[in-house]
Amino acid sequence: MQSFLFVCLGNICRSPLAEGIARKIAEDRALGIVVDSAGTGDWHIGEPPCRNSIKVAKEHNIDISSLRARVVQQEDFERFEYIVALDESNLQTLQKMGAKNVVKLGDYGYKGEDIPDPYFFNGYEGFEKVFQMIEVCVNELISVECFNKEDENENSK
Ligand code: 4NP
Repeated sequence: MQSFLFVCLGNICRSPLAEGIARKIAEDRALGIVVDSAGTGDWHIGEPPCRNSIKVAKEHNIDISSLRARVVQQEDFERFEYIVALDESNLQTLQKMGAKNVVKLGDYGYKGEDIPDPYFFNGYEGFEKVFQMIEVCVNELISVECFNKEDENENSK
């Protein structure tokens, strides 16, 4: 079973959106995948996602209000097959922590672009763009890493 841990800085804006979107895709396609999210920073441990992330997700019929922020742990690198960094800075932090299985979300459909951090945006503007970027990339990530792998497994039987 494939497993994905989405990691951003605070685990309150971007990675909860990625987690919610991935859960929705898994539900819609009846995929048995494991999905979670975490942050590299510890400022918001135990907090729900930021108001604007909850709002933009809700507008797309995804409820992320019950998620709670946590910090990424060393054991996550063993527990999850893919550690998915939302930007280059997150990627480098995770590599410094020793993760060998880190990928960058923007490499799936967005030419390696960072997912911009909406925590520093002025108000709600920009959250829809961030949602759409994450949605494109998470769809591509799941298609490439779940479906293409399934095809490979089928072909090697
Ligand atoms: P996120 O956004 O990494 O997308 O959750 C941030 C949330 C909080 C902080 C930075 C980024 N912060 O510095 O507290």
